[in-house]
Amino acid sequence: MNQTEIQSNAEIVLFGALGDLSRRKLLPALYQLDLEGLLHQDTRIIGVARQAHSNVEFVDFVKENLSDFISEDLDDVVLSRLTARLVYQQLDFKELDAYGALADTLAHGNETRIYYYSTPPAIYGDMTEGLFKADLIKPSDRVVMEKPIGHCLESSKVINDMVSKRFEENQIYRIDHYLGKETVLNLLVLRFANSLFTNNWDRNHIDHVQITVAESVGIEGRFGFYDDAGQMRDMVQNHLLQILSLLAMEPPADLSADSVRDEKLKVLKALLPITRHNVKEKTVRGQYTEGFLKGSAVPGYLEEDGANKQSKTETFVAIKAEIDNWRWTGVPFYLRTGKRMPAKHSEIVVQFKEQPHNIFKDSFEDLPANRLTIRLQPDEGVELQVMNKVPGISQQMAIHENKLDLSFSDTYSNQRVIDAYERLMLEVIKGNQSLFVRRDEVEAAWVWADSVIGAWAATNDKPKPYASGSWGPVSSISLIARDDRQWVE
Ligand code: BG6
Repeated sequence: MNQTEIQSNAEIVLFGALGDLSRRKLLPALYQLDLEGLLHQDTRIIGVARQAHSNVEFVDFVKENLSDFISEDLDDVVLSRLTARLVYQQLDFKELDAYGALADTLAHGNETRIYYYSTPPAIYGDMTEGLFKADLIKPSDRVVMEKPIGHCLESSKVINDMVSKRFEENQIYRIDHYLGKETVLNLLVLRFANSLFTNNWDRNHIDHVQITVAESVGIEGRFGFYDDAGQMRDMVQNHLLQILSLLAMEPPADLSADSVRDEKLKVLKALLPITRHNVKEKTVRGQYTEGFLKGSAVPGYLEEDGANKQSKTETFVAIKAEIDNWRWTGVPFYLRTGKRMPAKHSEIVVQFKEQPHNIFKDSFEDLPANRLTIRLQPDEGVELQVMNKVPGISQQMAIHENKLDLSFSDTYSNQRVIDAYERLMLEVIKGNQSLFVRRDEVEAAWVWADSVIGAWAATNDKPKPYASGSWGPVSSISLIARDDRQWVE
């Protein structure tokens, strides 16, 4: 895209501009977009936060964070172009009369204003009302909301209602940053641009699916926030369910935002609820204890800074999810995610069914079935396990398992790995909602997540301990072993 194609002169207003997300992700994403020539020449970036700062101090803050969070050398020309766009505005978000000062700072032309809410959701309502009161919302403006959107279905409705009072649904961009990841987007291409997969993607051909999102980090000094959420609300309700719905949805008519979101929604609605009667059989909750990671001792969850020693919050979840529809009945989707696991490692495994008859019994008593592995991060790629004849004359028909391996870093070695936030920020500027979550999707995901969380509460069991640096509690192995299957490590 060149400058003439960048239709939208956006004014980007970052609420919570001094916060962690802004420092680590949003400001670096804006730098990368500017580097690629994807920001309109007149685009300004207004940093809004509570603290008093001058513009110069804000520029210094941004420069410092860009050097901390961008691994490549910064380009001086781009850096001065970006810093010339920056303006700082102090604001007490809860003081609705104070938004007049923001109105004085903002331009009042044809710019599309993008209000990025990178603050705790509890104040999304105040910010929306403050903007409304200061007459700062026009139909072409957009609002970007970070997760968590609520703690349960009811609280998500409260947050969505507060924002929807002043913004239409087509102005609201709910972030699930997994939807901006290259490999997650590639699921659409893999499924719908390859007849090999399109035609075999159902209960007749697939035995089961595994989705693993493992992290080696712990809770990174945010005990208060995390302890209230746990891994189910922090990762499963959003990231894992979004991956699951992209994997399981029917082919959309096209790539427009509503076509894709309509199909994802149907999957979420077809998830079988988990109840107190089957929760023990279908889920495992874990909490990490002390252990070793990369050779160093790390504390357990209950020994983290500021920990509530009695906490029953889960840091690991494994679930056998089932989709009750024509395509997927009888095909389990095993979900697994946790903190303090041996490595950062996310992948999807699609295990195909076995051949009905084996003519290679001399090599394999049980012929292994094909397996498709989609490596989401790191070492992004796609791998298909196939059976192959071992070349040679001594045995007429020796066969073994081999891999067709497409590694993105080898195949696209001259491409920088784009961060999800760069793509998502650009899509907001372009006004394309397809990579953002619609309200009904958030609510359907909460309905299912609430069924699991409610069932756990009813049993009153504690999460099972697992040592930091392990793959979770032993019972997560039994969860899948009961079905005569095993996690692919
Ligand atoms: C966030 C969660 O949404 O995703 C964090 O709140 C988690 O707890 C993070 O660490 C993982 O994101 P990524 O992109 O590093 O896989």
